[in-house]
Amino acid sequence: MDLSELALIRLSDSYPIKPFDCGDNDLNEFLLGDSKNYYSQLLAVTYLLEFAEETAAFFSLLNDKISIEDADSKRKWRKIFRDIMPEGKRFKSYPAVKIGRLGVGNTFQGDGLGTVILDYVKELFIDNNRTGCKYLTVDAYLRSLRFYEKNGFEYLTEKDKDSETRLMYFDLTAVA
Ligand SMILES: CC(C)(COP(=O)(O)OP(=O)(O)OC[C@H]1O[C@@H](n2cnc3c(N)ncnc32)[C@H](O)[C@@H]1OP(=O)(O)O)[C@@H](O)C(=O)NCCC(=O)NCCS
Repeated sequence: MDLSELALIRLSDSYPIKPFDCGDNDLNEFLLGDSKNYYSQLLAVTYLLEFAEETAAFFSLLNDKISIEDADSKRKWRKIFRDIMPEGKRFKSYPAVKIGRLGVGNTFQGDGLGTVILDYVKELFIDNNRTGCKYLTVDAYLRSLRFYEKNGFEYLTEKDKDSETRLMYFDLTAVA
């Protein structure tokens, strides 16, 4: 795959989305059916990575937060929150951006594109951020947990370990 031939597009209402199939119906249907509605309702912004004839991958982003209550070990999170904020200026939650959807097309999977996308999103909110954002979050499908682990994401809680998705986070200050 020649990454230099990929175009990064910020999806808008009228953009004609090229064919896409990542093998997951929910993700395919989101991109081809719902993503423009999410955009116009200001619920999520979707980005496409595309070649001339097809969509190679997409991801969508929306604002999020991590609260002490979201995590299992309140003590651990209290300590993290205490360490990063001076006395008297502590928050009960911290700003985050959620990777709402992420899919790499069947023929491009396993070639590093998913990792390129995560690196891009990390950079976007460290070097090019318009607002403060300390964490990336994702509700990861069980089959993609390894992928997120390999990219430095951690589990926020054990409470969801028998669920269809698991809440994971990445601390952007770890690479800033
Ligand atoms: C999961 C997905 C986004 C990963 O993207 P990708 O471009 O295929 O992943 P990469 O090539 O960057 O893989 C990075 C690492 O994660 C590993 N990995 C990727 N997908 C994996 C999977 N499903 N299971 C286990 N390991 C996986 C790779 O082996 C690689 O490890 P390595 O660095 O040791 O070689 C992509 O396969 C996909 O879209 N799958 C279908 C839809 C889906 O499940 N999306 C996730 C929604 S939460």
